[in-house]
Amino acid sequence: MSDVPVIAIDGPSGSGKGTVAAAVAEQLGFVLLDSGALYRVLGIAASKYAVDLDDHAAIADLAGRLDIQFGKSGPGSVWLDGEDVTLQIRTDRGSELASLVGAIPAARRALFERQISFRREPGLVADGRDMGSVVFPDARLKIYLTASLEERARRRYKQLIGKGIDAILPDLLRDLKERDARDSQRSISPLQPAEDAVVLETTDLEIDQVVKQVMDLVRLRLGGSRA
Ligand code: DC
Repeated sequence: MSDVPVIAIDGPSGSGKGTVAAAVAEQLGFVLLDSGALYRVLGIAASKYAVDLDDHAAIADLAGRLDIQFGKSGPGSVWLDGEDVTLQIRTDRGSELASLVGAIPAARRALFERQISFRREPGLVADGRDMGSVVFPDARLKIYLTASLEERARRRYKQLIGKGIDAILPDLLRDLKERDARDSQRSISPLQPAEDAVVLETTDLEIDQVVKQVMDLVRLRLGGSRA
């Protein structure tokens, strides 16, 4: 086991985990793993190379071969096989494909080592669904962020409108509900808090307040030397 500290931040879509994880990694100078981006890239790759989602062996094989680069053209940018897919992976189609490939056990196994390889000095902030429960069970701090379905749909709506993308709130609500159900009911690594996770309910909190709460917990768990 590595002694490089890991902070796991899990939760459903719209819980704010991506924004919180990026802010915490930035403040600590830690490496950031956006594991959802890996599932998103795999989904987009399956579509790009016309690999059948029912052919689990072929999807797992694809997952093992993907050439993924993070941050190549700026923070948050994601490249797949030399192509900038930063925007494409964040579309609704990208979300749906990610949730579908995420339910394939062989795909999860194939992405496991890739996720472990992000664990580098001085530490890692890992954001996803099963960071604390499966991928980094020895994480020093496990956070599970939640918010009501309605609030999460509203956040997504604001985000899309802010980017100038048309959105319909009831449709977003329906899609989120579907994705929550699929992510929570799958047989492998279902979306649920690790037993030793600190659950933070964020429905009535601003993102800055959540970041502050997480940073307070980091200082308690990791001590002054790291934080
Ligand atoms: O965190 P996100 O919204 O970018 O994740 C997109 C999808 O990827 C999510 O619906 C389920 C899947 N996913 C997963 O199965 N396991 C993870 N650790 C991260 C994401």
